[in-house]
Amino acid sequence: MLLKAELHCHIEGAALPALVTSQAEKYGADVSAFIRDGAYHWHDFSSFLAAYDAAANLFRSEEDYAALAETYLTGLANEGAIYSEFFTSPDHAERAGLSPQAYTAGLGEGIVRARAKTGIEGRMIVTGVRHFGPAAVEKAARFAATCGHPLVTGFGMAGDERSGHPRDFVRAFDIAREAGLGITVHAGEFGGADSVEAALDYFAPTRIGHGVRTVEDPDLVRRVAEEGVVLEVCPVSNVVLGVFPDYTHHPFPQLHAAGCRLTLNSDDPPHFHTSIGHEYAVASRHFDLDEAALTAVTCTALEAAFVDEETRRTLL
Ligand code: ADE
Ligand code: ZN
Repeated sequence: MLLKAELHCHIEGAALPALVTSQAEKYGADVSAFIRDGAYHWHDFSSFLAAYDAAANLFRSEEDYAALAETYLTGLANEGAIYSEFFTSPDHAERAGLSPQAYTAGLGEGIVRARAKTGIEGRMIVTGVRHFGPAAVEKAARFAATCGHPLVTGFGMAGDERSGHPRDFVRAFDIAREAGLGITVHAGEFGGADSVEAALDYFAPTRIGHGVRTVEDPDLVRRVAEEGVVLEVCPVSNVVLGVFPDYTHHPFPQLHAAGCRLTLNSDDPPHFHTSIGHEYAVASRHFDLDEAALTAVTCTALEAAFVDEETRRTLL
């Protein structure tokens, strides 16, 4: 099987509807507003974020999160993945009544269990949620910088990129960078090329989450290629959320031809009826990537991973 690696998946967004439903039974909650007939139901980006928040609220203990990470990583390993870096959100844990420390410890335990079962390696990127505001994002960065968990290796920002001005989040990224964490940020998904350019200028990330709307500005495409910024591309998410109407309009091939460094990722897999295996299959079918090109995508992900050099060598 083709070896795969994923750099962009939100752990709460990876919760399968069946698992969320069983969590709801455990806590006496009703999921009918956002899960029907065993599938997530929402109709636009805002209602997707609401469904995401509601599902996250049903994970409330360290063990809930350990099981969630173990299930996600085991599924990934079964599709040929050898590495995953997933986004964590201490804000969502706190909203569900769990401390960021217990939340991170649970997810770390899930990584250890999945590694023991399947050999897959995992790391965590703590994220702030942009539309929760600069103070919340800075608090997440401080937690990332001080938590001391050995599997926390990065900091990022997710959420609605149209919310707030980049300058308001600079301190959060400075805190994380000074602590030695890898930096990534969502941009160029619901914001255009300007949003990607601002993310590069204000946050100096080595990776951009999505970044696909870079294609709207030829100078920016050149800059991204020249600076070697890695784009965490999530093709199925982009089409399902309506960023592009279909795969023929997706800019992956154009960015690839321009020399941008691209990876393939599932974002929030069950929400978009995808998986890492499906993303690679989509890239093969719609972007004409042969096996060598898909393997090169995996290598790019491993090169750009926020992982220690010794572990990277064992993966590459
Ligand atoms: N959080 C979870 N999925 C997201 C996405 N696709 N864009 C921004 N924030 C997110
Ligand atoms: Zn994302």
